[in-house]
Amino acid sequence: MSVARAASIDDLRRLARRRVPRVAFDYMDGGAESENGLGRNRAAFERLRLVPRYLVDVSVRDISRELFGRRWAMPVGVAPTGLASLVWPGADFMLARAAAAADVPYILSTAATASLEDVARAAPNHGWFQLYAGRDEAIVDDLVRRAGAAGFPVLVVTVDIPVPGKRDRDLRNGLTLPLRPRAEVLLDVLRRPAWLLASARAGSPRFRNIEPYVQAKRATSLAEAMALQTAGNFGWDRLARVRAAWRGKMVVKGLMAPDDVRRAADEGADGVILSNHGGRQLDAGPAPIELLPAALEAVQGRIPIMLDSGIRRGGDVLRALALGAAFCFVARATLYGVAAGGEAGAARALAILRDEMDRTLGQIGCCTLGELGPDRIWTAD
Ligand code: FNR
Repeated sequence: MSVARAASIDDLRRLARRRVPRVAFDYMDGGAESENGLGRNRAAFERLRLVPRYLVDVSVRDISRELFGRRWAMPVGVAPTGLASLVWPGADFMLARAAAAADVPYILSTAATASLEDVARAAPNHGWFQLYAGRDEAIVDDLVRRAGAAGFPVLVVTVDIPVPGKRDRDLRNGLTLPLRPRAEVLLDVLRRPAWLLASARAGSPRFRNIEPYVQAKRATSLAEAMALQTAGNFGWDRLARVRAAWRGKMVVKGLMAPDDVRRAADEGADGVILSNHGGRQLDAGPAPIELLPAALEAVQGRIPIMLDSGIRRGGDVLRALALGAAFCFVARATLYGVAAGGEAGAARALAILRDEMDRTLGQIGCCTLGELGPDRIWTAD
């Protein structure tokens, strides 16, 4: 099956599994520890049922949404993913271009394998920059400066890695940089010749954004790089410092507790992305959609609340919007697409979500996203 014939995000996932080696598939697909959080993200959406209203003229529908002063073609963008070139060489650019072509935002990670300057050029007017604020304040200051100079309008500060999550699949596969996979993992790599060839040509993925700050450039271990990005000492005081240095919109990503969401609004955040990092950090945490009503209550409409983690269907986005989310993001959906078929695969993932959102909106009797509200939701026990 080619990506053009993939009917769902799950189809893209199946194609991805066949095309990339286990070490790369598991990195993208896996969650923390027992992967209960990963499962909970899906289950929480499933518990929310969309109640259809019929006998309504829905022949003309519009799924565009305004956010941060401009209109996007649909209410879902591409979330940041570090080390994307492990999944497929050049993945950051593929994702960025697919997002720009679909007219949705693309968030480039600090831990990306393409530089923010290059991605800003590849996807003009669609890129946002995601900041991991490490221990070294001078590096953080410089990343913020570079993101501004490159013209990114939105800075997304991810705060949910006070310590790196424990991902059992990656530990089992011996995921390190440069890649030094275990023997059985290596055998599996040999069975994926297209990936192997592309990866051999491109060379080991490198953290292009933080590379300038790492002394032993070529020998950057994953552990070293993670230590650079995640500090454990990033507190509200340092968030305020980032806020003061950044002229554009600042979004805080990864908050869950309603009191934290309220505090972010108090501290000058222009938005929050409720997220459990796609179930990759705190396995014992709730699903973001479960805390969305409380987060909205906490900010009383002062700032938009966005959401990611677990979205695999257009209907999931509508569920979140019906409960009051302003916008949604996906990471794995488009990454599966890249793994399955490069930029065309990422574009296919976005097209699938768009089609499902449009159909589902009509099926529940709405012509625009503005008509969605909590009255459309029935919650199972
Ligand atoms: C991520 N995520 C992430 N988030 C972030 O702020 N910076 C990052 O560098 C990364 N890296 C990353 C790598 C990979 C492979 C994945 C799958 C995820 C988290 C991501 O932005 C997002 O919050 C969740 O993945 C969304 O959940 P879904 O859509 O993957 O279920």
